[in-house]
Amino acid sequence: MTSKTSQRVRIDLAERSYDILIGSGLLRDAASYDDLPRSRDAMIVTNTTVAPLYARALAEVLRGRHEQIHVVELPDGETHKDWATLNRIFDALLGHGCDRKTVLYALGGGVVGDMTGFAAACYMRGVPFVQVPTTLLAQVDSSVGGKTAINHPLGKNMIGAFYQPLRVIADLDTLATLPRREVAAGLAEVIKYGPIADDAFFGWIETNADALVTLEPAALLHAVKRSCEIKAQVVGADEREQGLRAILNFGHTFGHAIEAGLGYGEWLHGEAVGCGMVMAARLSQRLGLVDAGYVERVRALVAKVGLPVRGPDLGRERWLELMHVDKKTEGGAIRYVVIEAPGRAAMRAVPDEVVAPVIAECIG
Ligand code: NAD
Ligand code: GLY
Repeated sequence: MTSKTSQRVRIDLAERSYDILIGSGLLRDAASYDDLPRSRDAMIVTNTTVAPLYARALAEVLRGRHEQIHVVELPDGETHKDWATLNRIFDALLGHGCDRKTVLYALGGGVVGDMTGFAAACYMRGVPFVQVPTTLLAQVDSSVGGKTAINHPLGKNMIGAFYQPLRVIADLDTLATLPRREVAAGLAEVIKYGPIADDAFFGWIETNADALVTLEPAALLHAVKRSCEIKAQVVGADEREQGLRAILNFGHTFGHAIEAGLGYGEWLHGEAVGCGMVMAARLSQRLGLVDAGYVERVRALVAKVGLPVRGPDLGRERWLELMHVDKKTEGGAIRYVVIEAPGRAAMRAVPDEVVAPVIAECIG
C-alpha cells in the first residue's frame, strides 16, 4: 500500500490510531479493508448523488466481510445535515436489527462523513466506522481527525462528538466525477496547509496548481498525502482542540461570515475559506507579521485554482456581527488564526478596529 500510486499516512492517537490510505482504485480493492472488523451487518451510509456512482462497488468489495450489507441513502446537501436526517440512519440501523458490532461505512463528502461519524458515536453508545471520502475536501480534511457533527438551526456543526474512524480510504479515482466547482473548493483546504504549516508545500502548490485543477494523478496523490500528513500531525498533538488544532481554521472566521451572511449554500464552504484566507493573510500583514508580497502570493494562488478572492459586501457592521457569532473572544476581541511567518500560524486576539479596514479593503 505504499507504491507510487498509493500511500499510507498514520494518525497517531494511542489506542485510537489509524491509517489513511490514499491512492487510485482503493475503493474497489479488497486489500484496503484488510484487518478491519468482520461482522454480521454493515451499513453503507451515502447520499442520493454518490450512491448511484459508488455504492454498488463498495457493497461488492465488502461482500465476504459482512453477511448483510445495508445501504441508507440520505438526501444530498448541507441543509440535510440535521437531526431528521441523522434519525434516518438510526431508523435503518434499528430497522435491520443491527447490533453493536455493525460497521458503518461513510461513502461521500464531508456532509455524509460528519453525519455517519456522529451516528457511529451514538448508536448503541458507539460502533466502529470507516471513512470512504469521495470529495477532495473530505479526503484532505473532514474525513481525518474525528470531528463529527450535525448542524443546529442556531449554529453549524454545533451538535457532535470527537469520534475517530477505524480507517480512511481515500480513493482518488472517485474525484473524477466531482464537479469542477467542488474540486476548487477542496483545493482551498489543500492550500490552507501551506501558510499554516509548510512553506515548501505552499511553493509546490503554486508550481502545480494547474495539474491539481485538472486532477493530474501524481500531483493529486502528493497534495492529498501531504495535506493528510499535516492534519495527522496537528490532530495527533491536539485531538480535542485545546489549542494547536485551531490553526486548521485559517481563513474560516472570515469564511463563516460569508457563508452565514449570504445564506448557507450560496458560496461553497471551500470558496468562502479561499476568500477568507486572503483576508486573514491581509490581517496578518496589518499586524506586521508578513509582507505585502506574501499576501499577494496567497491571493494569486487562491485565484489561480478558481476561487473567489474578494468577499461579498455584507456591510461593515454586519461582517463584524457575523464574525462575533459563536467565536471565542478575548476581552471582546475575536481570536483569529494569523500567519506569523510563511508556514507558521498562531492565534491572536484582534480588536474590531484593526479588522474593519481589512474587511473594507477585501470586499466588493
Ligand atoms: P458535500 O459532502 O456536500 O459534497 C459536495 C457535493 O459533492 C455534494 O453534492 C455531494 O453529493 C457531491 N459528491 C460527493 N462525492 C462526489 C463524487 N465523487 N462525484 C460527484 N459528486 C460527489 O461537501 P464537502 O465539501 O465534501 O464537505 C463539506 C462538509 O464537511 C461541511 O458540512 C463541513 O462542515 C464539513 N467539514 C468537516 C470537517 C471535519 O473536520 N469534520 C472539516 C471540514 C469540513
Ligand atoms: N477542519 C478543522 C479540524 O478538523 O479541526
